[in-house]
Amino acid sequence: MNKSQIVAAVNKYGTPAYVYDGAQLLTNYTNLKNALPDFVDVFYALKVNPNVSLVKLLRSKGACTEVCSVTEMEIALKAGSTPQDIVYLGPCKKDYELKRAISLQIFAIVIESEIELQRVSNFAKELNTVANIAIRINPDFSAEGSPWKMGGRPTHFGIEEQRAVENFGKYLATPYVNIKGIHVYNGTNILEASSVFENTRYILKLYDKIVQKYQCKFTMVDVGGGMGIPYFQNQEALHLGEFKDLMVPLFTEFNEKYPRTRIIMESGRFIIGTAGAMAVQANNIKVNHGKTFVVTDGGTNCHSAAAGSGRVVKRNFPMENISAHETAETHTYQVSGPLCSPDDIIGRNIVLQEVKLNDILLVKLSGAYGPTSSPVLFHSHGYPSEILIYQNEIQLIREKDCAADIINKQIEVDFKKNELINH
Ligand SMILES: Cc1ncc(COP(=O)(O)O)c(C=O)c1O
Repeated sequence: MNKSQIVAAVNKYGTPAYVYDGAQLLTNYTNLKNALPDFVDVFYALKVNPNVSLVKLLRSKGACTEVCSVTEMEIALKAGSTPQDIVYLGPCKKDYELKRAISLQIFAIVIESEIELQRVSNFAKELNTVANIAIRINPDFSAEGSPWKMGGRPTHFGIEEQRAVENFGKYLATPYVNIKGIHVYNGTNILEASSVFENTRYILKLYDKIVQKYQCKFTMVDVGGGMGIPYFQNQEALHLGEFKDLMVPLFTEFNEKYPRTRIIMESGRFIIGTAGAMAVQANNIKVNHGKTFVVTDGGTNCHSAAAGSGRVVKRNFPMENISAHETAETHTYQVSGPLCSPDDIIGRNIVLQEVKLNDILLVKLSGAYGPTSSPVLFHSHGYPSEILIYQNEIQLIREKDCAADIINKQIEVDFKKNELINH
């Protein structure tokens, strides 16, 4: 997508808006797929961006889906995923969610605890069927280079390695479940190919260890992934050539030993991160205590990652004033969002071409963990719109929330005036 398409898109649908480049999305997916042997399946993680049209586009190239709620499961199905190409995980699965997954006979429900294993067994019995499951293991190993580690330390994910290895015999004896294999997801935004490799090698060895110990006939291993993208200065992109050189022999050797085992890699950020940008509009420009602030209509509420929420050191996502003329001079700005919070800053001391009122600023590298992981209801602003630019067409793929969308969810109590006054 080019700048004029983005300007046309926001002129038509307004700001704040997420704008996606469909061609880039497909290229990212294909690049990852091509760096892996054919027999490795890539499961797109909907938590990263669950828009049905984007999932549908990925599905058109064969992407499978990893979901973390029954709603994500329904989106995956709507986008054309078959139950056989869905894995469902997450530390808190409600009864109705598990029952839906069991009834659909999805490829695997990833079990995060022994209690959950028992619940799935009970529900499968109740539904007179056998549930396909995998056991999520929190290994004694953490992925190097990941800013957020899900494994190798105390977390609410999976069953710790030693306990799982010791108790696998009991798991295998659980009725009404078919344990297909294991799942490990260890970290996110890893930029070193060697780190993904070491992590994967560890998981494949763990699989081998359990298979040898219990002589079980597994048919799946989900090695997670965590492949990242560079957001900040001095970060280098994951080297796909190196990734391929390391991963292909590793998986090939495993596949020769276990040809019936489906190998799954999960990926979200790598596939969609570079394919999206957030467009916001300058609503005010002002000097305050010596700094120049650009107040925009989308900040932490739409994009908490860009505001650095959860990070001690806040660094700027790449940003551009796409309304400025090429030759406009640059200034240093503090770019804020619309919230009454001093932390609502998406650009700190950022150098941009001169910003004028109503200019459109683009926050790049924003396709992953955007509004879905932001407090979109703060100040009741609601979810921003989402626009897809693909094959020269500009299509709205999510309407911005309007006041009624938010207000109608609230329930107005009909207090009896006198009672309230009297008590
Ligand atoms: C279990 C699991 N799978 C997949 C993902 C997606 O990870 P990424 O965006 O790093 O590819 C996550 C992210 O937290 C996750 O927890």
